[in-house]
Amino acid sequence: MTPAQLHCLCLVTLYLTTGYGEDGKFSGPLKAMTFSIFEGQEPSQVIFQFKANPPAVTFKLTGETDGIFEIQPNGLLYHTKPLDRERRAVHELQVSALDAQGATVEGPVPITIEVKDINDNPPRFLQSKYEGSVRQNSRPGKPFMYVNATDLDDPATPNGQLSYHVLIQLPKVSEIMYFQINNKTGGISLTPDGSRSLDPTKNLNYNLVISVRDMGEHPFSDTTSVDITVKENIWKMPEPVEIIENSTDPHPIKITQVQWNEPGARYDLVEKEKLPRFPFSIDQNGDIFVTQPLDHEEKDSYVFHAIATDENRKPLAAPLQVYVKVKDINDNPPTCPSEKTVFEIQENENIGSDIGTFTGHDMDEKNTENSLLKYKLVDQTPKFPQDNLFMIQTYLGLLQLSKQSLKKQDSSQYNLTIEVSDKDFKTVCLVQVNVIDINDQIPIFEKSDYGNLTFAENTAVGTTILVIQATDSDEPFTGSSKIQYLITKGDSEGRLGVDTDPQTNAGYVILKKPLDFEAAPILNIMVKAENLEPLVSGVNYNESSYASFTLFVTNVNEAPQFSQHVFQAEVREDVAIGTTVAKMTAVDPEGLDLSYSLKGEERGWLRIDRTTGDILTAARLDRETESLHRVQVVAAETTKPFLSSTVEFHLTITDVNDNPPRLAKDYIGLSFCYPLKGPESLIFAATDDDKQSFRGPHFTFSLGSEHLKKDWEVSKINGTHARLSTKHKGFEERAYNIPIRINDGGQPPLESLVSLTVTFCTCVEGSCYRPVGQQPGRPTVGMAVGILLSTLLVIGIILAVVFIRIKKNKGGDNVENTQASEVKPLRD
Ligand SMILES: *[C@@H]1O[C@H](CO)[C@@H](O)[C@H](O)[C@H]1NC(C)=O
Ligand SMILES: *[C@@H]1O[C@H](CO)[C@@H](O)[C@H](O)[C@H]1NC(C)=O
Ligand SMILES: *[C@@H]1O[C@H](CO)[C@@H](O)[C@H](O)[C@H]1NC(C)=O
Ligand SMILES: *[C@@H]1O[C@H](CO)[C@@H](O)[C@H](O)[C@H]1NC(C)=O
Ligand SMILES: *[C@@H]1O[C@H](CO)[C@@H](O)[C@H](O)[C@H]1NC(C)=O
Ligand SMILES: *[C@@H]1O[C@H](CO)[C@@H](O)[C@H](O)[C@H]1NC(C)=O
Ligand SMILES: *[C@@H]1O[C@H](CO)[C@@H](O)[C@H](O)[C@H]1NC(C)=O
Repeated sequence: MTPAQLHCLCLVTLYLTTGYGEDGKFSGPLKAMTFSIFEGQEPSQVIFQFKANPPAVTFKLTGETDGIFEIQPNGLLYHTKPLDRERRAVHELQVSALDAQGATVEGPVPITIEVKDINDNPPRFLQSKYEGSVRQNSRPGKPFMYVNATDLDDPATPNGQLSYHVLIQLPKVSEIMYFQINNKTGGISLTPDGSRSLDPTKNLNYNLVISVRDMGEHPFSDTTSVDITVKENIWKMPEPVEIIENSTDPHPIKITQVQWNEPGARYDLVEKEKLPRFPFSIDQNGDIFVTQPLDHEEKDSYVFHAIATDENRKPLAAPLQVYVKVKDINDNPPTCPSEKTVFEIQENENIGSDIGTFTGHDMDEKNTENSLLKYKLVDQTPKFPQDNLFMIQTYLGLLQLSKQSLKKQDSSQYNLTIEVSDKDFKTVCLVQVNVIDINDQIPIFEKSDYGNLTFAENTAVGTTILVIQATDSDEPFTGSSKIQYLITKGDSEGRLGVDTDPQTNAGYVILKKPLDFEAAPILNIMVKAENLEPLVSGVNYNESSYASFTLFVTNVNEAPQFSQHVFQAEVREDVAIGTTVAKMTAVDPEGLDLSYSLKGEERGWLRIDRTTGDILTAARLDRETESLHRVQVVAAETTKPFLSSTVEFHLTITDVNDNPPRLAKDYIGLSFCYPLKGPESLIFAATDDDKQSFRGPHFTFSLGSEHLKKDWEVSKINGTHARLSTKHKGFEERAYNIPIRINDGGQPPLESLVSLTVTFCTCVEGSCYRPVGQQPGRPTVGMAVGILLSTLLVIGIILAVVFIRIKKNKGGDNVENTQASEVKPLRD
């Protein structure tokens, strides 16, 4: 190769190679340098041209040249063969500059050649065939074996990085993969499907073809074959365990065991429900123990979990459920439902009647011999009138009357002893039977006639007039012996009532309404004593349950009585004097003559006829004065003691249209500015004292005389207001009186003629001026202006006098000032 050829080659190479030299230069002085060059390239590649510095004339190359690197005397560094990273990844070279004599003048300086990797090595499995085994139900994703491949390329580049894949699984059913491989580590594990479905009894052996591939741009790959044997899972739920309760054997006692597929697992028990005590344990062989005697009555079964973990306490597989049943033994005697069971039975019940069911308890397991109870009656107290009055059904516990009906008189109570037994135990229980009374006795009065009573008719309501007494020999304080008293005759008005004392059954006859001599001077009363509960059939109330008395009512002179407290009447306000508006009648209980009079009649509108009670008008009424007229009417006995009663009388006076309409107020000072500049108008209102409909008054307005219509116009605004307007401008500067007719439209209609005074006057600042004193009463705006102007006039005159004085003193200047003060009064 000639230097020229080399030079040309050199440039081509420099452009193709990246990272050469420094600052894009391909030549330079001798100094330490590092070059990176891809392996496997064509030989005779120029790397760099060193420039000799006199006296240096030539260069020498030493170091790890491996016969590949050379340097020409002119400093051109190149390699003659392809580099191979896998043989040497870094070449440490040294270059020295020599003078003509061959003596070193510079260097040696280190030149480092880094060989960059290209993907020129395929991955290779370390074994062409692997064998392994996996336990049925192993945790998915947990590797049970590894395959391993190597690649000589730089592991720092994709060329040397490997990825594993399962290519083929044999056999394969329904396209479901049971195995998977970690593409980085080569660890082979089960898929979730594999963990679930692998079963050595169905298929024992599997074969996988695994590929490995590097990740270079143009990857290489290799395959290997893996034979896998499936082993049975011995991590299985143990059979349910049955433990007899209350065991006296020394504890702990082994009851069952679990075992993980491989040795070295740690075992634990986990409670499924939180219990006050957990009487089980497990050792590191997987043996499960019960640690103390169990009690069926406390808890009849236990369910808990056994878990296996690895040394890092990570679960190796799903927990196993352990089921323990506690077997009952008859270790509980029967118990009584309570210290004493009480039943009741009525007197006279028939033989065979059910008294009640007695039920004992047993804590042992239900529906077994251990809790099956039997009943036996062993004693009865008292044994009167005979023994064995009762019997109990052996298995049902039903207590029945066996010999005869009971009588409370014989014994009101029986104490029974009942023996309750199960297979091994006997318990004695107490039962008390109470005999209850029935309502077979009637109340009997202590006497049948309580004689004559006398009370005045004004005796206060609530007074007790008599105490009566009946007795009942049924059981006290029951509905069979409690008495209520009913008045059955002689008091249809309900004037009397009887209250019963619950302790003594005494009856208090009490006045509930006033007595009335005039209506009922004698009351012949009959009282019945009854029980609250009905009598048993065959027993009836008889005469002994009735009593009577006679009540004489004495007369008392009473005041006359009106039938109401307030009387009302209504009358039109225009009724004629002497009209009867109401008739008042009072009655004297004793039938005495009465005389009537009025009280509080201050207006003198009404009078009353002393004997008949007629109320008449005595004067003209006026609703507008008083629409509700109230007086009092007195009815008095005409003889001693002149007892009297007073009631209210209210007379409502209804309206009649008897008031003509009028102006709503005094319209004073109505004025328009003179001369008129345009049409003017003013608003006025009317009113009426009569009662108005709810919509308000409806007045109509019109001019009071025909000839005014050429100058004025009246127009209605609404029911109360109207507008008075001018019809032209030609009014004189004076006051006009305009008569206006107002009609109230009532029944009958009333009309009035009113007058509005309107003044046309000269205006000062838009207001009319009028001299003082023309209108009595309160000052109008015009009057106020007048007062003001008069005041100004007086001040003006004073000023004029002052000015004239000054002028006299000063000598004749400023004539206008004095003239300005001569203010003339304005005309009305
Ligand atoms: C694979 O083999 C290489 C070389 O023998 C070794 O360094 C590496 O640890 C192995 N990897 C595995 C997962 O066995
Ligand atoms: C390797 O597996 C991981 C996780 O399964 C996946 O994300 C990744 O893409 C895989 N790499 C290759 C090269 O298949
Ligand atoms: C266990 O049995 C004995 C008799 O064998 C008994 O006395 C004891 O009460 C029983 N204990 C329990 C908790 O049932
Ligand atoms: C029944 O027993 C109770 C005590 O439990 C006692 O007070 C009562 O007098 C006894 N009755 C009879 C009739 O013996
Ligand atoms: C009760 O009054 C009546 C009638 O006045 C009279 O016949 C009778 O004897 C009186 N009875 C008694 C017990 O006073
Ligand atoms: C009413 O009956 C009772 C018994 O229930 C009896 O003692 C009494 O004599 C009877 N009275 C009359 C008036 O028959
Ligand atoms: C009637 O008209 C006058 C003036 O417009 C007004 O003030 C008044 O409220 C009106 N009255 C009714 C009842 O509308």
